[in-house]
Amino acid sequence: MQAIQVTDKVYWVGAIDWNIRDFHGYSTNRGTTYNAYLILSDKPTLIDTVKKEFYPEMMARIASVIDPKKIEIIISNHSEMDHSGALPEAVAAIEPKEIYCSDMGLKDLSAQLHPKFPMKVVKTGDKIDIGGDTISFVEARMLHWPDSMFSYLEKENILFTNDVFGMHYATSRLFDDENEERLWLYEAEKYYANIVLPYSDIVLRFLDTVQKMGLSPKMIAPDHGFIWRKDPSKIVNLYAKWAAQAPKNKALVVYDTMWGSTQKMAQYIAEGLRLGGTEVKLLSMHSCHRSDVATELLDSSGLIIGSPVLNSGIFPSMADVLCYLKGLKKKHLVGGAFGSYGWNPGPVHALANTLTELGVEAAAPVVSSKFVPDDSVAQACKALGLAVSQKIAEKLK
Ligand code: FEO
Repeated sequence: MQAIQVTDKVYWVGAIDWNIRDFHGYSTNRGTTYNAYLILSDKPTLIDTVKKEFYPEMMARIASVIDPKKIEIIISNHSEMDHSGALPEAVAAIEPKEIYCSDMGLKDLSAQLHPKFPMKVVKTGDKIDIGGDTISFVEARMLHWPDSMFSYLEKENILFTNDVFGMHYATSRLFDDENEERLWLYEAEKYYANIVLPYSDIVLRFLDTVQKMGLSPKMIAPDHGFIWRKDPSKIVNLYAKWAAQAPKNKALVVYDTMWGSTQKMAQYIAEGLRLGGTEVKLLSMHSCHRSDVATELLDSSGLIIGSPVLNSGIFPSMADVLCYLKGLKKKHLVGGAFGSYGWNPGPVHALANTLTELGVEAAAPVVSSKFVPDDSVAQACKALGLAVSQKIAEKLK
């Protein structure tokens, strides 16, 4: 396992997780990477580590360019275990002189790893001399954890951003200009939609703050995916666009079905949306993954949810996706709800409350069908689709 050279003094010493397909409930169809970086300054410095089981891979890559014992400084930009899991073993093997993290990082790492090594807290504006270069720190609270922090290598002009500006994308090609946009763009968007979306207001404020600080890095080096060297502004601009959540004439109909009735309703609603001029996507939770629904929702203005009734509740697959979407706090949504039942319409009508919890403005009352939808239900479904389409059009004016 070899390190990959980034600049004269900076090396990538991370790990590639080619076959991970579930990252705490997020479908990672193209795997991921855990990026760690080694700076061969006078005081050799390691930025972040990797997931615990990839510790041997990281150490082998480090050993390909330097005796790990020569590392003097370790920086932990983020305490989630995909970056800190290997920290205790790394510290035991390397015995660094100093370990740095944010204030919240110290609290998190203490609670997770119960470390027996001392760590020093740094905050925004603090600088450390690493011998021949300087690292300054920028706290990035809630992007996406309270402890998140950026490290800026001043002379090399590289910003190490941990999760931010990354994506779950396993690649042996380390730089943006070596990877095809048609392959990575969806993964970058998916990452934003599933990890960063709830913190969009913070993203916008943070981008503004970083701009005012005058930072204009020649490279952005995140902890997942590849390094942005050809055009770091590309991912920054994408973040600004995604964070703004500008309305688009697009709606999702997210549903599941038991015996086909709710699916028929979904199709009638989609027809209403189409007739209203709105792009529509039907996503059945029988076959779609929650994290792909979240990705589709990122640029949607409409969300219509539908479920049959099972055991006096909504369908389990719908409960799953609605719980997930609630946490992502997508803004500016209009929509509605629908569903079929046999003898208890209550759970379908309770979807009105779910819309409220999701922050969705209902464009029309809930539509329900006792068993198979008849013509009047079909018309009510089309009317629901049209009403959502009209509300979206009003927002786009
Ligand atoms: Fe890649 Fe928040 O961990």
